[in-house]
Amino acid sequence: MIFDFHRLEPIERYKLLLATVLPRPIAWVTTRDRAGAVNAAPFSFFNVFGSDPATVGIGIGSRSPGEPKDTRLNIRTNEQFVVNLVPYSLAEQMRITSIAFPNGVEEPAEAGLTLAPGEFVAIPRIAQAPVAMECGFMQEIALGSFSLVLGRIHCMHIADEAVIDPDRKHIDAEKLDLIGRMEGGWYARTTARFELPSISLEDWTRDAAGQTARQTRAADR
Ligand SMILES: Cc1cc2nc3c(=O)[nH]c(=O)nc-3n(C[C@H](O)[C@H](O)[C@H](O)COP(=O)(O)O)c2cc1C
Repeated sequence: MIFDFHRLEPIERYKLLLATVLPRPIAWVTTRDRAGAVNAAPFSFFNVFGSDPATVGIGIGSRSPGEPKDTRLNIRTNEQFVVNLVPYSLAEQMRITSIAFPNGVEEPAEAGLTLAPGEFVAIPRIAQAPVAMECGFMQEIALGSFSLVLGRIHCMHIADEAVIDPDRKHIDAEKLDLIGRMEGGWYARTTARFELPSISLEDWTRDAAGQTARQTRAADR
């Protein structure tokens, strides 16, 4: 079946994207409003896009037409935010912070989260999150009712127990136990993993040559 995106309503495209681009990592974004209140909300239109500058991108929608979500307003206000990552153990708290609380309500307090001060930005991170990236605003790209917000990562906090070798930057992904967003209200854990080392062109060429030779010998017999 083919779905022609030119003929679909935006909501239909949205539903197809959410149901197929899976799993999506979740940015649990903390920001501060003009009055200083700390906001937290999850966003799964999220990924990283480069390492020099180290760049995060988040797709943030609107509450209603022309009324951007608090996270986007707050980033516009002070050009700083923190991307916390969500472990399985904090899934319920993450869910609570996605409730459409009125402006000024501090979601971290509603969800019983502990905050820790930022080192590079005046925005706190979620202390229980195993990874937190302090970011400065780079650019906002308008995409209809959404905006793609790009940020530069100043620093990354990683829980000590997940750091295997700080010099070689080896991290124990199992210990992070992060979750991803699936369709509807479903989530995935990152603990069901399999290893697939990449193949160099040299290995591929040698193996292909060996296989051709084996096939030729078999055909000759
Ligand atoms: C797992 C999850 C992922 C979400 N991803 C997005 C997203 O990518 N973009 C978006 O605009 N809203 C997303 N939402 C909805 C927002 O979290 C929700 O609208 C929230 O209330 C926004 O808060 P704010 O107004 O304080 O910024 C997501 C919700 C959940 C539970």
